[in-house]
Amino acid sequence: MTKVEIYYFSGTGNSLYVAKELQKRLPEANLIPIVSLLNKDVIETSADTVGFVFPIHGMTIPIPVKKFIKKLDLKPTRYIFAIATRAGTQHIAFMEIDNILKKRGKSLNSYFTLNMASNDPKFKDYRPSVNEEIAKLEFEVRNRLNSIQKIIMNQENSREKDSEFIPASRGLGRLVRLGMAYAEFNGAKDYFYANSRCMGCGKCEKVCLSGKIKMINNKPVWQENVKCFFCYACLNYCPVKAVQIKSKIYMKSYTEENERYSHPYATANDIAEQKQTSD
Ligand SMILES: Cc1cc2nc3c(=O)[nH]c(=O)nc-3n(C[C@H](O)[C@H](O)[C@H](O)COP(=O)(O)O)c2cc1C
Repeated sequence: MTKVEIYYFSGTGNSLYVAKELQKRLPEANLIPIVSLLNKDVIETSADTVGFVFPIHGMTIPIPVKKFIKKLDLKPTRYIFAIATRAGTQHIAFMEIDNILKKRGKSLNSYFTLNMASNDPKFKDYRPSVNEEIAKLEFEVRNRLNSIQKIIMNQENSREKDSEFIPASRGLGRLVRLGMAYAEFNGAKDYFYANSRCMGCGKCEKVCLSGKIKMINNKPVWQENVKCFFCYACLNYCPVKAVQIKSKIYMKSYTEENERYSHPYATANDIAEQKQTSD
């Protein structure tokens, strides 16, 4: 088997679970957190095979994953794959990655979408998946990974139909891109707050993957000059459900009412570890 690197990003552990399960199936593969590399200007790899594992955010790739792929020098790489975890919507993530890679004469050789529990509690009627539902979803995930392993080992081209946007949604794709550009620019200004339940434990700062949260006088402050990654780790790992999303005129948030989700095996430490740089 050629040298394999799996780069992952995960707000609440679903994509981390997938990345770890894939690593078990690809002996010798290195698991590398994307966040740990973001401060570099150019990211070099000497791997023949490179994979990206990430959640779908707003129907496309998360902001830090996009940044990372733009900086990644893939010259020596001959096989590139991507695995998206999602709660259920269609998405344009692979199209977006291909658009970035195309500029360097590369493209995705294979891509796959895996359905997992939702970690987005801002919607009305949101209910976090219970263990039985998670187990069912992940049984399917592990089965899919068994086939994905073979495709990667054999360096096959494999592009899932299901992952592509239906033609009628292309306009929606453009809207999604616009939304993403706005989110990137705006960086979650006035988006989060902590309610009176906050005890100042600092867990939100610890899991904040962008470094946007700083504890000041025992309260989390979302700093305006730092761009949010929208991973929702702060929202989902707060032990007293104090972190909230503000209601917006265009979309009411239901985080005050709703429960939270994080992957049953992913601790706050597992999420925070993604920030550890190697140098
Ligand atoms: C800000 C945000 C936006 C999301 N948007 C989508 C979406 O458009 N479609 C979808 O199917 N899931 C969406 N989700 C759900 C996640 O993709 C899904 O739960 C994923 O498995 C979480 O992975 P993680 O635990 O590795 O972060 C979104 C989650 C967040 C936090």
